[in-house]
Amino acid sequence: MSEKHATLTIEDKSYTLPIVEGTEGDKALDIRTLRKTTGYITLDSGYMNTGSCSSEITFLDGELGILNYRGYGIEELAENCSFVEVAYLLLIGELPNREQLNDFRGLMSRFALIHEDLIHFFDHFPPKAKPMSILSTMVNTLSNFYPEMREDSDEELLIIAARLLSKIRTLAAFSYKKSEGHPLIYPRYDLSYCGNFLNMMFDKPVKPYVVHPEVVATLNKLLILHADHEQNCSTSTVRLVGSAGVNLYTSISAGISALWGPLHGGANQAVIEMLEAIHRDNNDFEKYIKKAKDPNDKFRLSGFGHRVYKTFDPRATIIKQACAQTLKALNVDDPLLEIAMQLEEIARSDDYFISRNLYPNVDFYSGIIYRAMGIPTNMFTVMFAMGRLPGWISHWTEMMQDTKDRKIGRPRQVYLGPKKRDFVPIHERK
Ligand code: SDX
Repeated sequence: MSEKHATLTIEDKSYTLPIVEGTEGDKALDIRTLRKTTGYITLDSGYMNTGSCSSEITFLDGELGILNYRGYGIEELAENCSFVEVAYLLLIGELPNREQLNDFRGLMSRFALIHEDLIHFFDHFPPKAKPMSILSTMVNTLSNFYPEMREDSDEELLIIAARLLSKIRTLAAFSYKKSEGHPLIYPRYDLSYCGNFLNMMFDKPVKPYVVHPEVVATLNKLLILHADHEQNCSTSTVRLVGSAGVNLYTSISAGISALWGPLHGGANQAVIEMLEAIHRDNNDFEKYIKKAKDPNDKFRLSGFGHRVYKTFDPRATIIKQACAQTLKALNVDDPLLEIAMQLEEIARSDDYFISRNLYPNVDFYSGIIYRAMGIPTNMFTVMFAMGRLPGWISHWTEMMQDTKDRKIGRPRQVYLGPKKRDFVPIHERK
């Protein structure tokens, strides 16, 4: 906490508000005593100017397009690490050494199976059940299989995290196999985190799946790029639900539900649906750009714009490069990539988008890579959830361990409804 402060003058009285400075120079006015000292609250719909907490996990700068996990730049992590290594970094705060990484990987193998009773749950979802709805339900159900999982759990964080990280991968693959009516493919001890997921998704008794190193490397990179993003909508949901003392699995289940929204993680699916619509419309870019700019039209360019990034989302830059590389390595020629690149070029030279600092975000190109891997469009947001899981767990844990400042999340409001009025019995109502 710095000694600096701001002065707030209301009517003829002055108040001092302490200034809090972050390690990367971010600044905040500490208003924790504002209502008590001034009788006023602040109003900030969408929390566009409001910090909900202090955190040591991720730093991002939306103006400069910077994203660091525990002080390491996303570019170096995506280039040099595995997803399991970055998950460890987010959870523990330090990159693992070889022994620590091997132990963490061993936990992932140990927890890869799900209880056979859980598998029967899949049989009772309707055939067209949405994968994110299944995932949220199944993760919440896990809390019944591990009732000891509470905020004061004495289980080591890495065991708790490994169990959920490993099982969400199995749940995702099993839900896909069930939706296809195919036999389940069980996890294998000899495969990596990403290799196991791909094998569980695509291996078939009649046609064994060959785990392609390029695909594994790209999937690691994608999951790393999705692993955390400070106080976004779904992470804030996990913190808010957890602040009431709710167990980790149920808090994560709430985060999965928030991520599902097309304005949030659901955008990666919406991008592909938008690009397919443009493709069907003979690449009529003008029509869609016009719709996106029309204030009376609900249509927005999915994968464009961001609450925080007012320049290129650094993740989108890496994913765009990986997109072209992966399609080439897999010898996939997807017309949607060309359409996406043309759409980006048109939008980025249009004053409507330039004046609003609207750039491609993490969701704009990621779906094209998932398509090339063979992942169905309706599972793209499930992939986002798998990637974001270590971030959610890290934030839930950071909040739960903050015994000094932790409070149940409960924002205030400004009331604009009717003033107090007398009750009217039903026989007198018109
Ligand atoms: C994610 O927060 C995170 O960190 C999220 C995330 C993470 O890692 O967790 O990064 C992941 O959610 C990325 C965002 C995915 N969503 C989309 O791609 C959906 C499309 N984008 C928009 O709906 C929008 O940009 C949001 C929701 C992402 C951000 O919305 P804001 O910050 O509330 O901004 P806004 O809606 O007030 O937009 C400001 C202006 C408006 O126009 P005016 O009222 O000023 O005339 O920009 C316009 C908007 O209409 N605008 C768009 C647009 N995004 C904003 N116009 C057309 N197309 C768009 N995509």
